[in-house]
Amino acid sequence: MFQPLQRLQPDSILGLMAKFRADSAAMKVDLGVGVYRDPDGHTPVLDCVRQAERQMLAEQTTKAYVGAAGREEFNQGVEELVLGATHAARRAGRVRTVQAPGGCGALRVGAELIRAAAPDSVVHVSDPTWGNHLPLLGNSGLRLERYPYYDAGHHALRFEAMLERLDRAAPGDTVLIHACCHNPSGADLDPPQWRTLVELLARRRLVPYLDLAYQGFGEGLEADAEPVRLVAERLPEALIAVSFSKNLGLYRERVGALLVVSDGAERADAVHSHVLQIARGIYSMPPDHGAAIAARIFTDMPLRQAWKLELDAMRMRINGMRDLLARELRAATGDDSFDFIRSQRGMFSLLGVSAPTVERLRERHHIYMTADSRMNLAGIMQHNAAYVAAAVATELAAQAA
Ligand code: LMR
Repeated sequence: MFQPLQRLQPDSILGLMAKFRADSAAMKVDLGVGVYRDPDGHTPVLDCVRQAERQMLAEQTTKAYVGAAGREEFNQGVEELVLGATHAARRAGRVRTVQAPGGCGALRVGAELIRAAAPDSVVHVSDPTWGNHLPLLGNSGLRLERYPYYDAGHHALRFEAMLERLDRAAPGDTVLIHACCHNPSGADLDPPQWRTLVELLARRRLVPYLDLAYQGFGEGLEADAEPVRLVAERLPEALIAVSFSKNLGLYRERVGALLVVSDGAERADAVHSHVLQIARGIYSMPPDHGAAIAARIFTDMPLRQAWKLELDAMRMRINGMRDLLARELRAATGDDSFDFIRSQRGMFSLLGVSAPTVERLRERHHIYMTADSRMNLAGIMQHNAAYVAAAVATELAAQAA
């Protein structure tokens, strides 16, 4: 049976993680996988998570099954966090939410839902997008196409080209959009651009599939949810995949959710029944541990307040490192061409250099980033920013010579 199977290349992001671990150099810098790092390079367990986990373990009396939808108080907490307490779509009973194993689990269940409802429709994904979007959506059998989004060479959003391409998409197609902190570019639409895009989606009868994996890392929990709220208000249908890996630091616990917005309460019930059946056929039920912690943080005011402060601190540290790296790059290269790093949001920016340059940065300087030159800015620290900037300047100068 297995004879035809050849060994595959490791995943581009997870493979890089393993390479970094195996590098024995004293000075090495991990700008690869998207995890937050504190000023000492650690990815901490948040204090609010520790407290909630302690309380939860002390009170838990059973490990019996929860069900395919997961915890109801978690699902309601997520809806409130993402859409707000009084959103019209919630009041109209148009929203159904299920807990999922991470944002990835949510994305896959959503893809299977699209496949069940509109098997011949196309999913339009941004160029560039997060590498794992392609298998997560494509392996469900859906056809994927790309729309222009960001020009890494010129460090610029391609908004007009994006609109032009989506204006030619077939009615009923899906458009996958990063709700905030675009991965890999860090370049987001501004509020007027979101309004223009939402009008186009409505006019062309396209269904948005929002990926919200970094709520709180852009401008804050509320501001980052604004595009999602606008979509759910203005459009009859939408899918929203949410991850709590980054903003609660619950990476390995796999905590996520899928929200589906339908054009009425009755249809929402029908859609929900399909979502539950899809989940049952893939993993049966989502893991509970992380979601139980998250639900406690969402509903307990002191814990929620503590979470907000910790999240604000993570966002501010990353923005501080954006500033620092941009300044060091200015000093090392003598020009301002890397100032764009400062104005982008979330964990990532694309340095905008070629794959061979990325390789030289890794081999000669032990600086790790994905082949598209995506940097996780949380990997920048006081002690390595000047080192990274000097290495980039050296390699760019060598390339130009
Ligand atoms: C990333 O983009 O690095 C993270 O979302 C981790 C992953 O699973 O790829």
